[in-house]
Amino acid sequence: MTVPHHIKDPKLADLGRRRIEWAERDMPVLTRIRERFAKEKPLKGIRVAACLHVTTETANLVRTLAAGGAEVRLCASNPLSTQDDVAAALVHHYGISVFAIKGEDRRTYYDHIESCLEFDPQITHDDGADLVSTLHQKYADTKAKNIWGSMEETTTGVIRLRALEKQGKLLFPVFAINDAMTKHLFDNRYGTGQSTVDGIIRATNRLLAGSVFVVAGYGWCGRGIATRARGMGAKVIVTEVNPIRAIEAKMDGFDVMTMAEAAKLGDIFCTSTGNINVIRPEHFELMKDGAIVANAGHFNVEIDIEGLKKLAKDVKPKVRPFVDQYILPDGKSIFLLADGRLINLAAAEGHPAAVMDMSFSLQALMGEYVAKNKGDFEPKVHRVPEHIDKWVAEIKLECMGVTIDKLTPEQKKYLESWEMGT
Ligand code: NAI
Repeated sequence: MTVPHHIKDPKLADLGRRRIEWAERDMPVLTRIRERFAKEKPLKGIRVAACLHVTTETANLVRTLAAGGAEVRLCASNPLSTQDDVAAALVHHYGISVFAIKGEDRRTYYDHIESCLEFDPQITHDDGADLVSTLHQKYADTKAKNIWGSMEETTTGVIRLRALEKQGKLLFPVFAINDAMTKHLFDNRYGTGQSTVDGIIRATNRLLAGSVFVVAGYGWCGRGIATRARGMGAKVIVTEVNPIRAIEAKMDGFDVMTMAEAAKLGDIFCTSTGNINVIRPEHFELMKDGAIVANAGHFNVEIDIEGLKKLAKDVKPKVRPFVDQYILPDGKSIFLLADGRLINLAAAEGHPAAVMDMSFSLQALMGEYVAKNKGDFEPKVHRVPEHIDKWVAEIKLECMGVTIDKLTPEQKKYLESWEMGT
């Protein structure tokens, strides 16, 4: 008997399983958690809804939750990031409910979220807070009351949830996975860095060496993208609005300037700010013929696509997969990648499994933590407890075959004496 689902093609299931197993090889911490979960069943009988990018790494997370005894439903956290073979494998090989189809329209995207909420989950995992927002907007007096706790994966989601908390409207406790050290230091920086460059290259096959690559936003993701683009031989320019991050970019060796200046120089542009309209019509007008524009931020709002559409006299969609050509009145072309959606997930495969190992170990352990301590938390945005963050780091190091020094009793005493102010 198959579980409830809505996916593209069941025939892709075998391919999906092989790719999920491939990712698993790079996820030893999560595998260790799964083995323990299978024995201890900490999530036995608990209904868990996950709204995450449907990738091989996510498949290994939901397998872990299911191994722990949870009944799991998964939908996509972005209409373009679903890997249809993974969705098929989860349904047909692992017996996990999935509602996700790559390229689904807005209506289907939200229908899929509804399908995940249908079974009244007690715990949720979100990436961008769309599931939690739906619970707040439509089910404040019903399904939201059943939620013990929710995990939020990304920067933008945490910002949205903190805003709800500030207005006094957050209905249940939320845990900011993104803010844990073993998440943003590695996932946002090394994961987004590598996979964004990968996505741009897969979509365009352009040579980065010798090109001018403009990164908007020097946060955790931006740092990674800028460093990786430089590693491929590009000359990298950073734009920022935060003076401290701008100094950091400058001292890290990047050129820093306004977008208006950078627009004239760049061959490739990539936003990762979490903000709206970072690249606007006045910037497109200054760009060189053939400029490539992409986004790695969570929502497709960082590039003013409506403004670009209005400015263009002609649009040639899909000149290559994920590449739309906008022809401006002066005859020059701007190439927009993946409709301005997360380029690393749309045109590539998202973050490599080795970094998602840490992010998703946190997700799994926090699911267990919420189940164990349900009812103990205020409806606020909470941090991941330090002992869980540290455990993930310790096991990751162990799996990497790295041993580090331990404090000697003398060193411990010395440091503690400062803490006590002596
Ligand atoms: P962050 O908060 O560390 O960095 C964002 C930076 O953008 C800040 O330094 C801010 O000053 C800057 N900024 C804001 N407005 C700007 C503007 N108009 N021009 C230039 N810079 C501006 O955030 P983080 O963690 O780097 O995340 C950025 C975005 O990427 C978020 O939307 C996050 O959810 C998303 N994200 C995407 C991932 C992916 O797989 N593509 C993975 C992780 C996060």
